[in-house]
Amino acid sequence: MRKLALFSLLFGYLFASDFITKTEYAKMLYSNPRGIGCDKCHGKKGEGALIAKFRRFDKKLNKVVDDELRAPRINDLDFWTFQKAVVSPKGMMPTYFLTDEEMVLLYEYVINFNKDKKDEK
Ligand code: HEC
Repeated sequence: MRKLALFSLLFGYLFASDFITKTEYAKMLYSNPRGIGCDKCHGKKGEGALIAKFRRFDKKLNKVVDDELRAPRINDLDFWTFQKAVVSPKGMMPTYFLTDEEMVLLYEYVINFNKDKKDEK
């Protein structure tokens, strides 16, 4: 609880004094939210990334097969899909507790990577 109070104090301070810009704050949310950073699994630009390769026994094929665990691309989603996945995730995606404002900042930040890609073409 104290941590939360401290955080909202800091949050207010940061925005009141323009100490960091919204983009910088969003970047911080992406790489260092209150939990493990999104970039660790989804890649620096939300392009999706390989988390691990492993081998497993496939019962149907009756043999050991190569398999891999991937975090999907997240820079091309609509806001509601994005928000739903972060608020009530499935699979191995962790749960995050972000305010609505933080969610919007984070979403805009991630979606921007996609715009960059289009511009490069
Ligand atoms: C431990 C690795 C990991 C971390 C950290 C992580 N994710 Fe995920 N995320 C996943 C995996 C794996 C899935 C696929 C879930 C499934 O369907 O099984 C996923 C799914 C998603 C989806 C849904 C994609 C879709 O196409 O529906 C979104 C959006 C998402 N993550 C956003 C985020 C954001 C934003 C963060 C940081 C706040 C984050 N993730 C952190 C592993 C991770």
